[in-house]
Amino acid sequence: MKRDFLTMADASREQINELLVRADFMKKSILDGKKDMDLLKGKNVITLFYENSTRTRCSFESAAKYLGASALGITTSGSSVKKGESLIDTAVTLDKMMADAIIIRHSVAGAPAIIAKHVKAGVINAGDGMHAHPTQALLDMYTMREKFGELKGLEVAIIGDVKHSRVAQSNIVGLSKMGAKVKVFAPNTLMPKGIENQPCKVCKNAKEAFEGSDVIMGLRIQLERQQKGLFPSVEEYNRFYGVSAERLKMCNKGVIVMHPGPANRGIEIDCDVLDSQVCYKDEQVTNGVATRMALLEWVCADQKRK
Ligand code: CP
Repeated sequence: MKRDFLTMADASREQINELLVRADFMKKSILDGKKDMDLLKGKNVITLFYENSTRTRCSFESAAKYLGASALGITTSGSSVKKGESLIDTAVTLDKMMADAIIIRHSVAGAPAIIAKHVKAGVINAGDGMHAHPTQALLDMYTMREKFGELKGLEVAIIGDVKHSRVAQSNIVGLSKMGAKVKVFAPNTLMPKGIENQPCKVCKNAKEAFEGSDVIMGLRIQLERQQKGLFPSVEEYNRFYGVSAERLKMCNKGVIVMHPGPANRGIEIDCDVLDSQVCYKDEQVTNGVATRMALLEWVCADQKRK
């Protein structure tokens, strides 16, 4: 049976739990140096990225290789997309090479879901527009669960450009599904329309966001959007919304700071915080490989391309 992983909204609590538990096994294996497993021997995993990526693409390709699958990567710059080939034609071409899983990142919301309807390979959404980035949310949840033991009851503050962030959207849906309490804090211009209807509390000030939080998740300020004047200056942004050591004093004891990367040092998060022991950005990267191994196994294991 074909299995796709497109949004956190589609994933059940049971499925998320199963993937997180399986990721424990995968993480232990790679930390023990077992990077030549044969769980996906003979499977063909293809990454198709229409947007830049370091973490997501390399972690998927590493995950596939560690499980014994072949991993091929294709980006727009080196492909026939540059000659005008359409999204569906490109995906179907890769599918006909007997791909078992196609992992796609695209600037258009819904692109992975469209591809999923046209190919026999399982499709994984690696980020689509401002819509969803479910595998980032999965690795973030894994990181929190690993640190705190469970997600239920955790207070998680997501701070920054919530409006343009697919990471925020997937974490709001996924974390609330798993029983965590999610708060968001951003300038009004960086808050999406309808946020009050989502399962999260909208904070009016930094005190509300930081006080009582177990996890502070900083989001990248998308400087390429700064021309639109969504906030006065990066200095003022840092002063009112930045994650600083001083503000972390308001959080619960044992608070951790997370960031999906890439981070703008000294803007959404201070350098001393980013480089401190409370920041779990490096754990997030390793956990990204482990969770994507678990996910690839789930997508590929029974894949018979029927
Ligand atoms: N967090 C994340 O998606 O990073 P990349 O853009 O480097 O993949």
